[in-house]
Amino acid sequence: MLAARGATVAMAARRTDRLETLGAEIAESGGTALPVELDVSDGEAAETAITRVVEELGRLDVLVNNAGVMLLGPMLEAPVEEWQQMVEVNLLGLMYMTKAAVPHLLKAAAGDRGVADVVNISSVAGRIARRNSGVYNATKFGVGAFSESLRQEVTGRHVRVSLVEPGAVATELQSHNRPEVKEQIEKRFVDMEILQAEDIAETIEFVVTRPSHVAVNEVLVRPTEQEQ
Ligand SMILES: NC(=O)c1ccc[n+]([C@@H]2O[C@H](COP(=O)([O-])OP(=O)(O)OC[C@H]3O[C@@H](n4cnc5c(N)ncnc54)[C@H](OP(=O)(O)O)[C@@H]3O)[C@@H](O)[C@H]2O)c1
Repeated sequence: MLAARGATVAMAARRTDRLETLGAEIAESGGTALPVELDVSDGEAAETAITRVVEELGRLDVLVNNAGVMLLGPMLEAPVEEWQQMVEVNLLGLMYMTKAAVPHLLKAAAGDRGVADVVNISSVAGRIARRNSGVYNATKFGVGAFSESLRQEVTGRHVRVSLVEPGAVATELQSHNRPEVKEQIEKRFVDMEILQAEDIAETIEFVVTRPSHVAVNEVLVRPTEQEQ
């Protein structure tokens, strides 16, 4: 969506085949995209990825911290490795990427655009804790706290920090759960028209295209029929 508006975009994730396909789609529509293989839970790799993006593309105006995993189920039965993965990706990964990016964002904000952006993708789960979601809740509540603290640190230098909190979106997120947990999650949204990835992309687009004196700090976007 941002590439279609003329932004040069870098996309980072572990599965390079997906990134290459998206990069090719963007290139075919006349845009410019740089696929970057990255596991955000590796702090050194996060730093290297940001350095590479700035070297190859010349500057960094917007960081969207979207990478996340949601592994649910009762705490007493949970494999601890699932908790570690959520903390390492949802929380530490986001922090590593932000630390690496902020010096470049500060530089960009002092330039012609007059502003730069960190957009952190949290969740309704970052505002409301639910049974069987404790560690996911903890990571997303953590994203909220980190974002607000960072916001106070850098907003005076025109780096806007925004929190986007989606409700249920049709993606692969729940597919990584154990079968018995997946069944429970699917039941919850079976009769509901949930959000599409484009709905959240539009929200991010809105946030980063405001005039430089407007900072949209927090956006909670639920499917209309989602009560909690
Ligand atoms: N779907 C929802 O209902 C919902 C609701 C609220 C919030 N969210 C949040 O939205 C964000 C995106 O999730 P999604 O729904 O789009 O889920 P998804 O379809 O499973 O996508 C997750 C994305 O994160 C990347 N990722 C996962 N682990 C990574 C790692 N270690 N390093 C780098 N990239 C990694 C994945 O790419 P690779 O696997 O190739 O690395 C993929 O691009 C997450 O932060 C999630 O918590 C989703």
